[in-house]
Amino acid sequence: MTSTDPTDVPYPNAQLHFGVFFQGVNHWTIWSDPGSGSQIDPASFRKVAQTAERGLFDAFFLGEGLRLREVDGLIHDLDVAGRPDAITQLAALAAVTDRIGLVSTSNTTFNEPTDLARRLSGLDLLSEGRAGWNVVTTDNAWTGANFRRGGYLDHADRYVRAEQFLTVARALWDGWADDAVADSREAPSWATPGAVRRVRELSSQFDVDLVPSLPRSAQGHPVIFQAGDSSEGRDFAARNGDVIFSAHGTEFDDALSFATDIRTRLRAAGRPGDDLRILPGTEIIIGRTEKEAREKARWVRFAQVTPATALNVASLLWGIDLSDRDADGPLPKEDPVVIENTGAFGARRVADPRATVARWRAEAEHHGWSLRETVIALGPQRGHVGTPEGLADKFTHFARHGAVDGFNITPYLIPEGLDDIVELLVPELQERGVYRTEYSGTTLREHLGLREPLSRRAVNPHRRAG
Ligand SMILES: Cc1cc2nc3c(=O)[nH]c(=O)nc-3n(C[C@H](O)[C@H](O)[C@H](O)COP(=O)(O)O)c2cc1C
Repeated sequence: MTSTDPTDVPYPNAQLHFGVFFQGVNHWTIWSDPGSGSQIDPASFRKVAQTAERGLFDAFFLGEGLRLREVDGLIHDLDVAGRPDAITQLAALAAVTDRIGLVSTSNTTFNEPTDLARRLSGLDLLSEGRAGWNVVTTDNAWTGANFRRGGYLDHADRYVRAEQFLTVARALWDGWADDAVADSREAPSWATPGAVRRVRELSSQFDVDLVPSLPRSAQGHPVIFQAGDSSEGRDFAARNGDVIFSAHGTEFDDALSFATDIRTRLRAAGRPGDDLRILPGTEIIIGRTEKEAREKARWVRFAQVTPATALNVASLLWGIDLSDRDADGPLPKEDPVVIENTGAFGARRVADPRATVARWRAEAEHHGWSLRETVIALGPQRGHVGTPEGLADKFTHFARHGAVDGFNITPYLIPEGLDDIVELLVPELQERGVYRTEYSGTTLREHLGLREPLSRRAVNPHRRAG
């Protein structure tokens, strides 16, 4: 792919926005590398966030998992222990960074809006307008067992609750007028009289009646991210989101068709097609030559899919314990056991194991692959591999054709994994005019080039009276 004539593309002025997704639960981060830090050492978070800021990234991003995943009553071995609460962790990072956005994934199924909106508001104030909230409904049924309601909402109800949750959060955030804080020492109160509105929200999920306790931040309120890929999830993002974190960023056609779908849904929701940023998650593997990049990718894959990991992935697919097998030997002879995927245990089983195993067998036989090589070749594929120049051309093409607005990058090494992206890829993107050369604003909303919060617009379904 070569760089395109910028005048001959649908989005000639497109700019790429990068986030870094510091992962907690996966087998994609290579903790076994001698250069790896610890997943719980504050130095790891600090180094990644500061490197991202040096690379002028928009955001440092954290997922949420409130319980370790289990398979058949046993902790899923691919999970790393120790994921500090995101908002707490981001508050610590706010103190050692100046510009980068700080995004917390926090679910709407098990939280309560009066509490979560206040905590996010706190992060937004303490970071001077750099907070983001990735709104997820969470499909983690096993998480719910430890919450007061002890249960789980149906998929459709989760989005109903999410929408009502966001309505309450927005009302709380908008409860203070912009100039509500009394700024005179002689003022009779902490707020200008009449500038703080009592919030009353009654819906099927919530009954809220209170005066919000925190003023607005430098960016109004936290930027709203969304991650959830169903039709309901996409519509929810189109109605409510500023950014969508997707899983559609590897193949150009898939990315473009996702982006086109989101833009159609945005317009249907009464918003301009460019009102939301699309940032797929991706891994980026860089080599100085194509050959070096391919060799590095091979090293990365083998380091990610260790023999134990290969057996773990295969056990999930086959539905039987394969931990005593030889990962470097042939595929198991047994037929897979079809177990209903109740979502109750955490780690997902494959939807149609018989068909998948049949395909794996055929491919493994054809190529002479071991079980581990088969997992590497046919298991989940992710990310982009190439030289800085080649990747910069490719990403410029993606951006100028409207397939993505950037990427939420998952480093395969912590804490050094962003170094070559910042040092080698970012300058190439800057040279092509698709990446900032300095931060022009101070808030996350400004970094992302977003309009004012939805609830503050003149014509908007979210605008509240008063
Ligand atoms: C890219 C992506 C990232 C997600 N990250 C999280 C997460 O960190 N924590 C979580 O509980 N759920 C996460 N989810 C799951 C969503 O909360 C949601 O439950 C799930 O995608 C099912 O909704 P859907 O059918 O609309 O996709 C993520 C989903 C996507 C697509």
